[in-house]
Amino acid sequence: MLINQVMVIGAGQMGAGIAQVFAQAGLRVKLNDLNEDALQKGLDGIKKRLTKAVEKEKMTENEKQQAFENLEGTTDLRAASDCDLIIEAVVEKMEVKTKVFQSLDAIAPDHAILASNTSSLPITEIAAVTKRPSQVIGMHFMNPVPVMKLVEIIRALQTSDETYEAIEQMTEKLNKTPVEVNDFPGFVSNRILMPMINEAIYTVYEGVSSVEDVDTVMKLGMNHPMGPLTLADFIGLDTCLSIMEVLHEGFGDSKYRPCPLLRQYVKAGWLGKKSGRGFYSYE
Ligand code: CAA
Ligand code: NAD
Repeated sequence: MLINQVMVIGAGQMGAGIAQVFAQAGLRVKLNDLNEDALQKGLDGIKKRLTKAVEKEKMTENEKQQAFENLEGTTDLRAASDCDLIIEAVVEKMEVKTKVFQSLDAIAPDHAILASNTSSLPITEIAAVTKRPSQVIGMHFMNPVPVMKLVEIIRALQTSDETYEAIEQMTEKLNKTPVEVNDFPGFVSNRILMPMINEAIYTVYEGVSSVEDVDTVMKLGMNHPMGPLTLADFIGLDTCLSIMEVLHEGFGDSKYRPCPLLRQYVKAGWLGKKSGRGFYSYE
């Protein structure tokens, strides 16, 4: 299957990064968000990162211009009508995602693949709300998208081999490494990562140690590039909580219960780096 025109829904930290890597790989990409402000924020972030890459001599001015020419912003979902691949990267809420998939299913051409960048939600359930379940798949990029090499490709129960192979080839074209995963809560990445982050939050909640010291233990003791609480702020605490809820509900096991402190931070609107405050302050 030929994929030329791509669309990314959601211009937040993940959607903007995904659009950037497609544009850099020479594909035409439309970036969509609900309003002009959110869209512009995503486009500005891409411009800033590409400009920095030119300054660091990792990219030529010409390559930057080329990537930017491949990119188009839109707040109109109907722009999906000529796309071959559409990747959804909106908030980690099932009801929002299923609405987006139902709309895309009605707009996109019959041959188009609909992919989700969800961190943990069941692709099988998302596929079931469309009339093309065999063309629905998980394409899970890691944050920050331009840097991280992995893409977890999640097969829904209904995903066809043809769809899987098209996404695997596309991942390689983006110079990333695909890993095939079946559709179970949290897939592989977040089934392993998120309980560690949740446990780090419990460690602070129970007064075992401070935020800074928990991070130092994991950075210097385990050689992690970021401590778990810095990483939680980087991912977004709302996203971390949503993933823990999916694990807790999906496996029905109390070992996945989200830490009350995580819930409290999200209720306060302390969502991490993106809101200016989480376990650390970014103001
Ligand atoms: N966006 C784009 N590029 C970024 C970036 C960002 N937010 N932050 C850093 N970079 C780039 C820099 O531009 C730099 O690029 P060059 O080498 O081309 O110059 C490179 O990353 C290294 O940056 P720095 O030297 O400034 O910083 P660093 O060495 O501390 O690395 C990091 C930064 C790559 C983010 C590193 O700290 C890291 O790997 N952290 C862990 C990231 C991680 O675990 N990601 C997975 C999160 S979980 C997930 O994504 C799944 C989910 O569903 C929640
Ligand atoms: P974010 O909050 O930075 O961005 C979400 C964007 O989606 C916002 O700009 C919002 O305006 C937009 N949006 C919401 N509803 C929309 C709709 N109906 N149509 C169009 N746009 C809409 O979130 P994020 O961190 O980029 O996460 C996006 C998705 O990627 C989530 O499913 C998340 O679980 C997943 N993910 C996140 C990470 C991470 O580290 N943050 C890593 C991998 C996957």
